[in-house]
Amino acid sequence: MKTNTLSHTHYPPVLSLIGNTPLIPLQFRAEGVTLHAKCEFLNPSGSIKDRLAKTVLVDACERGLLKPDSIILECTSGNTGIALAMVGAALGRRVTILMSTTASEERRLLIRQLGAELILFDSGGMYQTGIELSRQMAATDRRYFLPRQFENPLNVADHEHGTGQEILRQVEGPIHAFVTGFGTGGTLAGCGKAIKQRWPAARIIAMEPAEQALLAGECPCCHFIEGVADGFVPALLRDAPLDGEVKVRSADALQMTRRLHREFGLLVGTSSGANVVAALHTARELGPQATVVTLLCDRAERYFSTRLFSAEDQAATTGPKPCLPG
Ligand SMILES: Cc1ncc(COP(=O)(O)O)c(C=O)c1O
Repeated sequence: MKTNTLSHTHYPPVLSLIGNTPLIPLQFRAEGVTLHAKCEFLNPSGSIKDRLAKTVLVDACERGLLKPDSIILECTSGNTGIALAMVGAALGRRVTILMSTTASEERRLLIRQLGAELILFDSGGMYQTGIELSRQMAATDRRYFLPRQFENPLNVADHEHGTGQEILRQVEGPIHAFVTGFGTGGTLAGCGKAIKQRWPAARIIAMEPAEQALLAGECPCCHFIEGVADGFVPALLRDAPLDGEVKVRSADALQMTRRLHREFGLLVGTSSGANVVAALHTARELGPQATVVTLLCDRAERYFSTRLFSAEDQAATTGPKPCLPG
């Protein structure tokens, strides 16, 4: 029997596994740098997006926004869809995910396995197409509930009061820089606010794919750091306390991700490698004593069918790469 509200004592147990992820040192001896990496890939569905899914859906339940016949509907490039499907399953809710036909098979399988409905659409490379489609569907069918990850203020608030506070508790002494990529911008804005408030001199740095450095004022182009940089500067980044950006080539992100697998035993996705490249760059600029924090956002298993695991791509790990469709 589905209910409209949820009391704290009745949270499904899987929700207690979300957040409070460990922060580990990553020692790069050759570079003489130790980074601090928050292990978001250890969230139960495998990515940082579990936090958003839990916060938005529990809030909706508690405010009575989810009726017994409600359908949670979101357009996503993958991680948010899997997270919403997981939390939705635990809450006994129907979930429909809109995803581009270019989304990987692993993502599709996981979403369906969690019992969600998947609607694939031809995005023509434009993420906004899917967002518009979800709005149209919601306008014609009142059963749809839209988490609206790209504009929902809960997205930023959750990282400010959750992820950001965890980082502040886990790092001893001042934080000199926080470096991560952005999709909706929620993580960067929320953690950035929390860290800046405690350590005003901390530098909040956005990692951007070099092939699509929008914050750096360059034109959108295709890159293959999945999960970040969807081709526009998201609204949630507008009031983020950003101090700069570091551009990372997709080829360098892939190479570093493989290094994280083989030298550190950390099975993470491509954006984690990109974050680490940008964090290393920042640490080199700030000097060896600087405390630089970054995020390992999701798990490697999500990328079996991508360039990260392609033998051909691994053979040619260095040198300039053409801009390939993702
Ligand atoms: C795979 C992945 N998912 C999600 C995020 C964070 O996304 P958002 O900006 O939507 O908080 C990142 C950020 O680096 C990421 O790499």
